[in-house]
Amino acid sequence: MVSGELDLTGLRRVYGRPGSRLFYTAVCRNARHWGWTEPGQSKWRCWRAQRQLEGVLGRKLSLPAGSRVLDAGCGAGVVAREMAKRFGLRITGVDVLDFHVREARRLSERAALEDRTTFSWGDYHDLEFADGSFDGAYSMETLVHSYDPARALAELHRVLRPGGRLVLLGPIGAPRDELGAEGRAVLDPYLDAMVFPGAKQYDTRSLNDLLAGAGFRVEEALDATARYRPTSDALYAYFRVPYALLRLFGPAERWLNMRSVVEMYKVRDYVSWYVHTAVKP
Ligand SMILES: C[S@@+](CC[C@H](N)C(=O)[O-])C[C@H]1O[C@@H](n2cnc3c(N)ncnc32)[C@H](O)[C@@H]1O
Repeated sequence: MVSGELDLTGLRRVYGRPGSRLFYTAVCRNARHWGWTEPGQSKWRCWRAQRQLEGVLGRKLSLPAGSRVLDAGCGAGVVAREMAKRFGLRITGVDVLDFHVREARRLSERAALEDRTTFSWGDYHDLEFADGSFDGAYSMETLVHSYDPARALAELHRVLRPGGRLVLLGPIGAPRDELGAEGRAVLDPYLDAMVFPGAKQYDTRSLNDLLAGAGFRVEEALDATARYRPTSDALYAYFRVPYALLRLFGPAERWLNMRSVVEMYKVRDYVSWYVHTAVKP
């Protein structure tokens, strides 16, 4: 993995292999994110947890219907369509994987949401949009892929209007000094395999500073680990045996994002899940 530049080959390996694509389409119904489980709810209903996480995002964005919102790293556009349907937002999604952009457009057309969701190829470190183009922006579990998180946040800041809102959701590693050599030895191979260079550049302590450095006022840094863990536990229970069996027929890379699910469980002591809400003053 080359640090400091876009690793398209690595991202294609993570998301583009037939096993990964089958996993995301058939199992995750095109979503490429984890879920939010309320206390007392069953952990086994992962699709409900995913819809609930999208609900958390919509409420944290807290923007009126019709607002223009950037989805940085939109995948197949599941989140964008939920934001359009449930919150009436007008979403512009960008992603660096052409097959994700094509899939997002196709699915939005099928859902008759192409007037409220548009998708194009774009790297969120270097966006083609004019300053102040958006009322809001979000990253649903994509900042971990960033090769330069400070630059990505500065770019999101640039394309927001004054008063614009930013919501970041996703996993964050423990501070490197707290991990120690043993923690790094467990976590780093996972981060490298999943092309998560961002996860080595910011942590639970430093993301607030990075946001402030980019010009944002942090409204809330919510540690949501307890809400995410049930999905992680359930997916591990569902997939650890199929994953072990598949590995008998070839390297884990062929099934990489099933690897993400199973191995995320193994590194869970070194990872937290946060929802950051920030405003461009
Ligand atoms: C875990 S997936 C999340 C997709 C979507 N947000 C969702 O929740 O379904 C991460 C996405 O970020 C995209 N991505 C990674 N680096 C990116 C970058 N620099 N600019 C835009 N998208 C990027 C990947 O291609 C992938 O689609």
